[in-house]
Amino acid sequence: LIALFQPQVLKGQHVLVTAGPTYEAIDPVRGITNLSSGKMGFAIARAAREAGAQVTLVAGPVSLPTPRGVQRVDVRSASNMLEAVMDKAPVASIFIATAAVADWRPAHASEQKLKKDGSNATPTLSFVENTDILATLAQSPRAQSGALFCVGFAAESHDLLANAQAKRLRKGVPLLVGNIGPATFGQDDNALILVDERGTVELSRDSKLALARKLIADIADRIRARD
Ligand code: CTP
Ligand code: CA
Repeated sequence: LIALFQPQVLKGQHVLVTAGPTYEAIDPVRGITNLSSGKMGFAIARAAREAGAQVTLVAGPVSLPTPRGVQRVDVRSASNMLEAVMDKAPVASIFIATAAVADWRPAHASEQKLKKDGSNATPTLSFVENTDILATLAQSPRAQSGALFCVGFAAESHDLLANAQAKRLRKGVPLLVGNIGPATFGQDDNALILVDERGTVELSRDSKLALARKLIADIADRIRARD
């Protein structure tokens, strides 16, 4: 019911959100992934929709229901996620990257299941770096001209503030949101720190949905101030 009373601060906007982990195949039955649950990204997609935006949610492998009124695109690998994002980006006005995208993928996914060969030898994997989806979009002409507002997330195990500030500049995004530890993966609550060119604002511990609504209101303010 609360959803009905959310001010329509993103009416006319198209919000593109990435969420969840990615899965990088080693062979047909094995792969590398991480503990992201997707909950924060799904809450943000829901909050953006409640605020009147059209919302596209590009989701890695998660087990979460699709928020009402949100268009969902399921993907598996970081390459799949990049492709889906590039496909939707031309119509988006806001991009929010919450996904825990795998930084590396195995250089060669085996077409057949790897088998023990009886010699006790262990397999060696070599990796290649995945494209940075957020940085790619942030450097696009539409982002550079202000038509696409890009927001990044950062999960850090240490030195959150310094790492988040450096990451914001490195990615070239106006707003970077840090998860304040302890590790929030899978939890229903979180605490956030918003880092922009002027400094930082903390959103104190709350449910991921309540934080998502606050973040969406904050992003709407930034867009209004810009226009
Ligand atoms: N991100 C992305 N594509 C990638 C890696 C990260 O879009 N290939 C996005 C994430 O969704 C997040 C932001 O970039 O919004 C920061 O991700 P993070 O993993 O914290 O930063 P990295 O640049 O990958 O640095 P590191 O993991 O080494 O801290
Ligand atoms: Ca990373």
